[in-house]
Amino acid sequence: MTGQEQPAVRCRGLAYSFHRGRGKGPVVRAVDGVDLEVRPGEVFGLLGPNGAGKTTTIRAITTLLPTARGMVEVFGHDCAAERTGVRRLLGYVPQALSADAGLTGRENVALFARVFDVPRAERAARVAQALAAVDLTEAADRMAGTYSGGMVRRLELAQALVSAPRLLVLDEPTIGLDPIARAGVWERVDAVRRATGMTVLVTTHYMDEADRHCDRIALMDRGRIRALGTPGELKARVRAESAGSADAPEQQAPTLDDVFRHFSGRALADDAKEGEFSDVRRTRRTASRVG
Ligand SMILES: Nc1ncnc2c1ncn2[C@@H]1O[C@H](COP(=O)(O)OP(=O)(O)O)[C@@H](O)[C@H]1O
Ligand SMILES: [Mg+2]
Repeated sequence: MTGQEQPAVRCRGLAYSFHRGRGKGPVVRAVDGVDLEVRPGEVFGLLGPNGAGKTTTIRAITTLLPTARGMVEVFGHDCAAERTGVRRLLGYVPQALSADAGLTGRENVALFARVFDVPRAERAARVAQALAAVDLTEAADRMAGTYSGGMVRRLELAQALVSAPRLLVLDEPTIGLDPIARAGVWERVDAVRRATGMTVLVTTHYMDEADRHCDRIALMDRGRIRALGTPGELKARVRAESAGSADAPEQQAPTLDDVFRHFSGRALADDAKEGEFSDVRRTRRTASRVG
């Protein structure tokens, strides 16, 4: 099988536990047996409330959790055994801020170009290209500390894109952004994807974004995948499975919020609001630390 035909991501029985209180406290099964496959070229959404295990799953895929149980591969490369090989294939925008406020936008992206082995002769052009792809050409030589939240997110996108990854991994890329900035991030991701055929794996708890931008979605709750399919398939399943039931909210077409409630037995929206709040606070703390 050639690399092109391999799934972009394949997880089998992926599991990871945290030990609270220096190994003496309770064990938290953050990821509890995840099977999933991301197809080359698709936008795959990992959806679920705060604490569902999305970030831990992502950290296993990006080789940052080498001791996870089960199997994870990126384009056929084992994430535990071939960490360097896997890292060459992916770009990663973590949930917490990763840009340095004391460097210009261009310097931030150039740093990633060096770290990710972009050949020296190509670096300046590739950095400029990545900045242009996220509409930061004009602001490129200003300190990142002067950027708005949406611009910082786009800068981080440029950092992840400068190595021309085959798989772009985004962890809550639009958290805490206003609707216009959120749309701006997605527009740039979609444009690069159309131009390069890059695969995108994204976590979010914004149902509307998942509905609009993801080809397929995995609903994650308490460490497990509870349902997987296209947004249309998931809604159709909910419609079919709750037809005739007394509490059917599906008088009209179900939304992805209804889908989540159906498969997890609780509402995503309420959890998401709390999660959003604490994530934004955490993000802000990080921002002031780098600033
Ligand atoms: N470093 C850590 N130490 C202890 N527990 C953690 C740590 N990171 C995550 N967890 C716990 O693992 C579970 C899953 O967290 P996470 O993967 O961050 O979920 P999500 O990204 O979906 O919000 C949660 O119960 C969380 O509290
Ligand atoms: Mg997370």
